[in-house]
Amino acid sequence: MTIKSFAIQAHGFDGLKAVQRAVPEPGEREVLLRVRAMGLNYRDVEIVLGTYHTDFPLPLVPLSDCVGEVIATGPGITRVRQGDRVVVAFWERWNDGAFSLADAGAPLGGPKDGVLTEQFVALEDRLVVVPDALSDLEAASLPCAASTAWHALVTAGRLKAGETVLVQGTGGVSLFAMQFALMAGARVIATSSSDAKLERVKALGASGTVNYKRHPEWAAEVLRLTGGRGVDHVLEVGGPGSFGQALKAIRPGGQVNVIGYLGGANGATNPLEIFRRQATVRGIPVGSRWMLQELIAAYAASSLRPLIDRAFDWTDAANALRHLHSGDHFGKVVLSA
Ligand SMILES: NC(=O)c1ccc[n+]([C@@H]2O[C@H](COP(=O)([O-])OP(=O)(O)OC[C@H]3O[C@@H](n4cnc5c(N)ncnc54)[C@H](OP(=O)(O)O)[C@@H]3O)[C@@H](O)[C@H]2O)c1
Repeated sequence: MTIKSFAIQAHGFDGLKAVQRAVPEPGEREVLLRVRAMGLNYRDVEIVLGTYHTDFPLPLVPLSDCVGEVIATGPGITRVRQGDRVVVAFWERWNDGAFSLADAGAPLGGPKDGVLTEQFVALEDRLVVVPDALSDLEAASLPCAASTAWHALVTAGRLKAGETVLVQGTGGVSLFAMQFALMAGARVIATSSSDAKLERVKALGASGTVNYKRHPEWAAEVLRLTGGRGVDHVLEVGGPGSFGQALKAIRPGGQVNVIGYLGGANGATNPLEIFRRQATVRGIPVGSRWMLQELIAAYAASSLRPLIDRAFDWTDAANALRHLHSGDHFGKVVLSA
C-alpha cells in the first residue's frame, strides 16, 4: 500500500507535485499518524519559494504543523495510544528546559520531510494530546506560531496582568500573541497595514491600533497611545526595518522579542539605542513541546479559540500558500485532510 504526499520538486508554488510513497513503519518509541489537518506558516511559503534563510535539498515534503490520529504504534510507547488525536511539536527533541540548536533536532518540512502527506511517522516524545475543546483545524494551527508567541511572552517574557504588549501585523504569531496577552489580563496594541484588519483586532480586544503604512514612524503613535510611557513587550516580526521603531516604542527596561523579518532581512540599528532604552532584546526560536502543552491547556481553559482565516483542502496546498503569501489573511491559514 502507498500513501499520497506533496513534495517540492522545484522552487515555486507550481513546483509542488503529488508523489506516492510506501507507508512508513513506526520504530522504537514512534507512532504512525494519519494526518487530519495541517497549518501553514510564513516559513513554509519561503521554503516552497526557495527564499528561506536555509537551503534544503529537494524533493522535500513541506509543512511542520498538523494534527493527526495515532493509527499504529511501535514498541516502547508510553505517552499516547492508538486513536489519540495529537499535535506534533516543531522541534524533534526539544521537550523542555533551555534551548540548544545542536540538540533540538530537525524540524519537519525542512530539512526533514514534513506533514503535507496522508500519513507519517513521529517520535512519541514530541506529541501533545489535543483536548476536545479544540477542533482539528484549530489544533493544527498551533505548533510553530503559537509556541513561538508563548515562548516570547509567557516563558521568556514572564508577562503579567496589566502590562502592555505590542503585536505587529495580523499574521499567525502576532494574533496568537494578542490572544495570550488577553488571556493574561494584559493590554494589546496592534499594528497593521490595513484599517479593516485593525477594526477586527479592536473588536477582538486590542485597546490601541496603528496603521504602520500610514505611520512609518509608528513608535510615536504607540507612545501617544500609552501616554508617553511605551509598551512592556514587543513581538518583533517586521525585521531590521521595524526594529528601530520597536526600540522606540518600549518603556525604559521593556522587552523586544526578535522573531521574524517580514519586511526584509537588511537594515541597520544603532546598538546604543538598546543601551538608551535599557532594553532586553532576545532572539526567540519556536517553542518547546512543554510550551505547546502549556498553551493548549490555556486554550482549553479559555473561551478564546485560535483565529482561523481560511481552510483549504490539503490537495490545494499550493493555493493556500499563495493566499498566505498575498498577506490578505487574518490569523491562520489551514488545510483539512
Ligand atoms: N523565530 C521563530 O522561531 C519564528 C517562528 C514563527 C515565525 N517566525 C517569523 O515570524 C514572522 C511572522 O510569521 P507568521 O507565520 O506569523 O506570518 P504570517 O501569518 O504570514 O503574517 C504575515 C502578516 O504580517 C504582517 N506584516 C507583513 N509585513 C510586515 C512588516 N514589514 N511589518 C509588520 N508586519 C508585517 C502583515 O499583516 P497586516 O496585513 O495586518 O499588515 C501580514 O499579513 C515571519 O517572518 C516568520 O518567518 C519566526
